[in-house]
Amino acid sequence: MPKPVLLITRKLPEAIEARAAQDFDARLNTKDDPWFRSGAEIAKRANEAKAEGVLIAAGDPMNAEAIAALPASVKIITTFSVGYDHIDVKAAKARGITVTNTPDVLSFATAETAMTLMLMAARRAGEGERLVRAGKWEGWAPTQLMGVTLEKKKLGILGMGRIGRELAQMARGFSMEIHYRDINKLPPELELGAVYHDDDDKFLSTIDVISMHVPGGDATRKWLNAERLAKMKKGSLVVNSGRGGSVDDEALIAALASGHIRAAGLDVYDGEPVVNPGYFKLENVALLPHLGSATIETRDAMGRRALDNLFALLVEGKEPPHAVK
Ligand code: DGY
Repeated sequence: MPKPVLLITRKLPEAIEARAAQDFDARLNTKDDPWFRSGAEIAKRANEAKAEGVLIAAGDPMNAEAIAALPASVKIITTFSVGYDHIDVKAAKARGITVTNTPDVLSFATAETAMTLMLMAARRAGEGERLVRAGKWEGWAPTQLMGVTLEKKKLGILGMGRIGRELAQMARGFSMEIHYRDINKLPPELELGAVYHDDDDKFLSTIDVISMHVPGGDATRKWLNAERLAKMKKGSLVVNSGRGGSVDDEALIAALASGHIRAAGLDVYDGEPVVNPGYFKLENVALLPHLGSATIETRDAMGRRALDNLFALLVEGKEPPHAVK
């Protein structure tokens, strides 16, 4: 039996590429050539290869046009990410194409990134690092680069899914009080004493730090806008390691410049890899390049999960373990 043809859009960890080459007739992008940025280009290569599966990553634009242009041979689109807002799932389903993702295995690493950003924002770590690297540090001083402590602060988690809950656990270690806003209240065994809010205004006016963990897409587009930022206490912190589109960049930049928001930490951006240049003028924002899940262990686990999904459908003819419903 010939192996199923699998088009892979990105350079992947070595062990994952090796397993892909063993289980599939894998068309790898070993040099990470940036053709993955265009949905039309991905579809073109899928046609040339007569691919049965396409393994993409966060940001590869599988919109309705790209899906319409895929060859009839494609049965599955697997994304090397938990988020799938870059895929038009409805259009895929309409063509009978299964969409799968890689949930769970990246929750801890992504929560670690949120915690890192929270600490960087609270303790002015980016500013301090820039000072030392610029050779401008003149030694310890009682009033130098004073930030705020996280101890006993109220952390507001927007979106209490798997990543939000991991962050809540970490933040408890910093003696933070956990509040969360979500569509549904969690059962007590998952809530672990966190305070549920069913109202945006009460949530925003209660917390000292917001950490955003909502999926991208129209429902959350620019959720954190000028009006909602104004409802937060003066001196609050903003952290986003979810999706860039859920923050109104211009509104956050204005709130950081005025000092209403003390500091922010961002890992994701609306329209990334382009970053609103307004952020570059500000000292009080820590900017990371979407490395939420970027640990060696996590990326290997994500790769294994992605290949398990493909193997189930294309080789075993079974329902993949992580099909997007
Ligand atoms: C995801 O998995 O959705 C991340 O944003 C990519 O690391």
